[in-house]
Formats: sequence, C-alpha cells, structure tokens
Amino acid sequence: MGIEASCNRQINYLRISITDRCNLRCRYCMPPEGVEYKSHDDIMRYEEVERFARVALEAGIDRFRLTGGEPLVRRGVLKLVESLARLPGLNELSMTSNGYYLEDRAYELKQAGLDRINISLDTLKAERFKKITRVDGLDRVRRGIDRARKVGLNPVKINVVIIRDFNDDEILDFVNLSRKEGLQVRFIELMPLNGESKERQKDYLPTAEIITRIKQAGYQLKPLDIIGSGPARNYEIVGGEGRLGFISPLSHNFCSSCNRLRLTADGYLKPCLAEDREFKLYDEAGRLLSQENLAKILAQACRVKPAAHSLTKEQQLARNMSQIGG
Ligand code: 5AD
Ligand code: SF4
Repeated sequence: MGIEASCNRQINYLRISITDRCNLRCRYCMPPEGVEYKSHDDIMRYEEVERFARVALEAGIDRFRLTGGEPLVRRGVLKLVESLARLPGLNELSMTSNGYYLEDRAYELKQAGLDRINISLDTLKAERFKKITRVDGLDRVRRGIDRARKVGLNPVKINVVIIRDFNDDEILDFVNLSRKEGLQVRFIELMPLNGESKERQKDYLPTAEIITRIKQAGYQLKPLDIIGSGPARNYEIVGGEGRLGFISPLSHNFCSSCNRLRLTADGYLKPCLAEDREFKLYDEAGRLLSQENLAKILAQACRVKPAAHSLTKEQQLARNMSQIGG
C-alpha cells in the first residue's frame, strides 16, 4: 500500500497543515514578533483540503495528520476532522498540537473521529515553559494532556525537543512522566531550521547522548520494532509502562524509510521538510487543480523526493517550521 517514491520508498502518510498561525512563539521556531501570517484568502478552504485528501486516498495514502502552526486555532477544525474521518480508505487520522486548547477540545475531537494526538512539550517547569514558548501555559497543556488520555485519544505522544543547557536536565523527568503516566515520550534532536535554531546549533544534543544519560541513571531500554511508526526509534522502559522514542534527523538520517509528504496550509505539496521544492495545487486563477492534475502532482512529488536531506548544510529555508507543518 502506498505510492511508489524514489529510492524504493512507499508513501502512505500525508501531513496536512491547516494554518500557519500559532498561539505560542517557540524560540526555535519563530522570532518573538512571530512570522507574517498568510491572508485567509491564501489558505486552503476545508472543502479543498478534502478534495485533495480524496485524491491522496485514491492514490494509496491511508494516514493523515493535521498540523499547523497550531491546528486548533483554525475555526471549524472539527468539521474538517469529521469529514476526513469519514473518507473511505483512511486508516488513521491524527493531529500534532501544542496542547494549549486541548482541555476543551479533546472530547469533541475524539467524537469527530480523531484517532490520536501528539503534543509538543519541551519542559515540565512553568517558568521555563514561559521562556521557550513566550506564553504562560504549562498548566493548561498538562490538563490538555490528561483530558486527551481520558477521552481515549490513544496513544498520546509527547514530543520533546532537547536543547543543551536549556532542558537537557529534564530528560529523566520526562522518562519518569512516561513511566508514571504511560505516555509515550519522544525526544527530538534540534534541527537547524529558522527562528533561533540556526545560531543554536551549539545547543544541539545528539540522541546517543540522551540515551547514555538515561542508561546511566539506571534505566534499561529494550528496542521495539514498530512497523509504520515513522522516523522514531522506539524503546520500552524495562520494568514500567513507559515507552520512549528518539527522532534523530541529524545523527541518524532516516530518509531512506521516509513515508511522508507534506501539504502546506497555503496549498503547496512538499516532498521533503528540509528543502524548498514544492508544488502548487492551484492554477493561475486561484482554483484548485482538477482531480487528474492533483493526482499527477502527487505522483511527481513522490518521484522527486530527495534521497537524503541536507539539514546539516548552511541553508536558509524559505518557510519556517510553523509554515511547513512540523
Ligand atoms: N527542531 C526540531 N523540532 C522542531 N519542531 C519545531 N521546530 C523544530 C526544530 N527546529 C517540532 C515541534 C513539534 C514538531 C511539529 O516539530 O516541537 O513537536
Ligand atoms: Fe522525509 Fe525529508 Fe524528513 Fe528525510 S528530511 S525524513 S525525506 S521529510
């Protein structure tokens, strides 16, 4: 199942960014003043997203993830979840969110057909949360996580970007969170994208070092082989409920098994997060392309998917993370 891509890869997963807006201002993602938002006219309408989604399903994609910016800041998102969840051929509908609005929305999201959710959370300390996101919201996010689990969004995964000398002293706290609450915690290497992350490459902490620290603290990790789990390498914490994942875009290039494409909120299809190449899904008059042409573009994006990314090179991407969809 999936679409044939270059280098023997099968594409079965589409990340759909539905807005470039976000209520937080994470330092590695955005400058303090934020980024210039696209106007509403430039953002795909829900029915257009659905039209493209049907083409993608027809072609062999069977998993969608809604992202942003922050997907829950876009009005009417429940409607979209409902309509996507109903589409024939879809195996899984998930979302990546910062969790800020989740306490109020988790139940209705689940009812609307969302299967599971990943929540980005880089610290368990309130002051630090404020420092990294520039918003005072840790408690809300924690309540959002609890609520998501209670309503049965399963599994709830927590994405933690580890930054040296900033939150690397919390690695064990996150391990404990995973053990105690049965949450899946995934440690992500900081990528040199835009925002402040470029200058912050000295703050990059490789996965191997994170694993060493966890083992040194006395935890045993048992590798898990989860098919279709994407770029994370997963481990069970021996003697507990916890499960850890490591996403290592820099130290362990996982491009050879990359199974995804990205759709930006303004209607471009991106074969790879780490390069500027993208395909516009609209004609000159601003109309979404025909079903036939969308299918062609989808196939083309898979064909030109790069064999490997160039994240380690000095490069400035045209879009920042919130405009790509993470
Ligand atoms: N490096 C690593 N991860 C990043 N994210 C955003 N910017 C970066 C970066 N420079 C993460 C967010 C979120 C996911 C969508 O992408 O923290 O978990
Ligand atoms: Fe996929 Fe591009 Fe990421 Fe590689 S860098 S894993 S090709 S999105």
